Amino acid sequence: MLKERVEFLKEELNKHNYNYYVLDNPTISDYEYDMLFAELKELENNNPELRSPDSPTQRVGSISTGFEEYRHKYRLYSLDNSYNAEDLRKWYERAQKEYGKTDLELVCELKIDGLAIALSYTNGLFTTGVTRGNGIIGENITQNLKTVKAVPLKLFENVNIDVRGEIYMPISSFNKLNEESMKNNDKIFANPRNAAAGSLRQLDSTITAKRDLSMFTYTVILPDGNNTIKTHWDSIQYIKKLGFKTNPNIRLVKDIEGAIQFCKDWETKRFELDYATDGVVIKINSFAAQNELGFTARAPKWATAFKFPPEEISTTLEDIEIGVGKTGAITPVANLTPVLLAGSTVARASLHNFDEIERLDVRIGDSVFIKKAAEIIPKVIKVVDDEEHYKRPKYIPPTECPVCHSPLEYREGEVVAYCSNRYCPAVAKAKLEYWVSKEAMDIDNIGPSVIEQLYNMNMVKTPADFYKLSQQDFMMLDLVKEKSAYNMFSSIQASKNRPLAKFITALSIRHVGKETADILVNELNTLSNIRNADIETLSNIEGIGEKIAQSIYEFFHSDDSDKLLSELAELGVIPSESSQKLSDDFAGLTFVLTGTLQSMTRDEASDKIKERGGKTSSSVSKKTSFVVAGENAGSKFDKATALGVKILSEDEFLNMMG
Ligand code: IVH
Repeated sequence: MLKERVEFLKEELNKHNYNYYVLDNPTISDYEYDMLFAELKELENNNPELRSPDSPTQRVGSISTGFEEYRHKYRLYSLDNSYNAEDLRKWYERAQKEYGKTDLELVCELKIDGLAIALSYTNGLFTTGVTRGNGIIGENITQNLKTVKAVPLKLFENVNIDVRGEIYMPISSFNKLNEESMKNNDKIFANPRNAAAGSLRQLDSTITAKRDLSMFTYTVILPDGNNTIKTHWDSIQYIKKLGFKTNPNIRLVKDIEGAIQFCKDWETKRFELDYATDGVVIKINSFAAQNELGFTARAPKWATAFKFPPEEISTTLEDIEIGVGKTGAITPVANLTPVLLAGSTVARASLHNFDEIERLDVRIGDSVFIKKAAEIIPKVIKVVDDEEHYKRPKYIPPTECPVCHSPLEYREGEVVAYCSNRYCPAVAKAKLEYWVSKEAMDIDNIGPSVIEQLYNMNMVKTPADFYKLSQQDFMMLDLVKEKSAYNMFSSIQASKNRPLAKFITALSIRHVGKETADILVNELNTLSNIRNADIETLSNIEGIGEKIAQSIYEFFHSDDSDKLLSELAELGVIPSESSQKLSDDFAGLTFVLTGTLQSMTRDEASDKIKERGGKTSSSVSKKTSFVVAGENAGSKFDKATALGVKILSEDEFLNMMG
């Protein structure tokens, strides 16, 4: 009796779940659903033996200690991109030629901008869900995926099957989540994709359960022996029948012209959707043709991703703010009326330099178009030259530094303006901020507002001054109590013996960033060698040109630098010269890093390799010992596969370092 009631409730709830989350068509009220759910929960609590993994009560989440690596049963390939009709026609012609037939039907689907996952079902029950990872190895996030209501726990048929889909967060839910987070001072996500990723990678899946995530399924790997389904189109109808949510905006077309029309239609229509799409995936419909065409190292030849052109949007340029960088470079930045662009709110955009402002004829108050290419700060690309524009006064670039009011100067061969004052407070503060940054001395707990106060109170004017501060000194700052004063003090002390390359980077020598600092240290080994090198020695080093050599030489032969370096040394700031090396574990090994790592940035990984005596390189060759592949690894991954270079997952890499 009890058992039957439990089975009935499970089926009933799963059905309503399906109606609501997959079909978007609820047939009972939330209240009725909650009542059934409560009844099932109580029955299961009283009779735990009746609780099964496909029960809707199992979607609430739990806490885990970490995600296990999981080797995909079938590799998850990437897609090659097309950017215009021409690219699409070329792709199609090539497929026609290789397959030897001209009448190739195509399926057009929206490319959902979320996270790819692979789901496995055994006997119709959801068993494992894995992130894409590098396509070969991903992470097992089954528990988290169980909380996503569009992931069926039980299919309508008892089949063994693998599917792929994209997890996404609706734009409206993303906005709500950020509004809430803003109120609670929680993390703000840049776009729906990041929000989906952040929600999915929670060790506590009860948090995932609270986030509104959904999934569109777009690929099925048919069970062996299934030869009734012969096309991609039919396979989508089949998984729909099994209970998966698929995207309704899919079209079967006769040829590439039909696909081009679909892309055109969606280029503008996509903004009406409540989820982000960044293109259209075009797939050859016939499985026979797919099998014949096969894959390159990276992607199927039977599919291509048409990428929508980068989004442009107009807004009002409210003001032009002038920034002063650590080299004294003056950078104009546009303050904009905030707008949503490619999924994130943008309130500032780059204007590069005053030549650029003149070229665009940007005037304050203008309507301007801004554009964002992937992961780059948005920039102003054009001005709307309406009547109003011409009524506004032309922008007149400043002639003096906005902070110290010294005259600006232009250097030969450069379009950038510089503050001419060697002691400009804005430059000094920017240098101090750079000194503590991750890339340089990596000092935690000291942010721009602390630096601002320390500088204004005359407590810190040069980096050496950081090391003169006591714990008490920090307590003079706004809102700083004993504990945070202690943390600031300790962070500074802990940075005294950073590797030499970080120290050189931190000095803000013009034209010398992290990469050049690495080269210098690799070649010359010690600080005193670097200080004493003449221009010829410096410019003979591969990767260091005349201009950089000159700048390094000048830096180390100025009174100010002499003073700074001896003060630092007296205060015990002595960079470690054997530095880089903790061990010789990686001696003779060359690593190439690609894709996004979860536990550290690529720079940090590169530091760790060097500390162990290894080398890093930016390109893969036969000499490469290992390629460390993070998420969304690209062409380097393919090159490694092609050359037979060993590919490490992030976990394998971490293990190797102990
Ligand atoms: S098919 C081998 N279809 O795009 C076929 N992918 O750039 C590969 N994606 O990793 C996937 N929507 O995360 C396919 N309708 C769709 C898609 C789609 C989004 C993503 C997927 C994949 C990436 C490839």
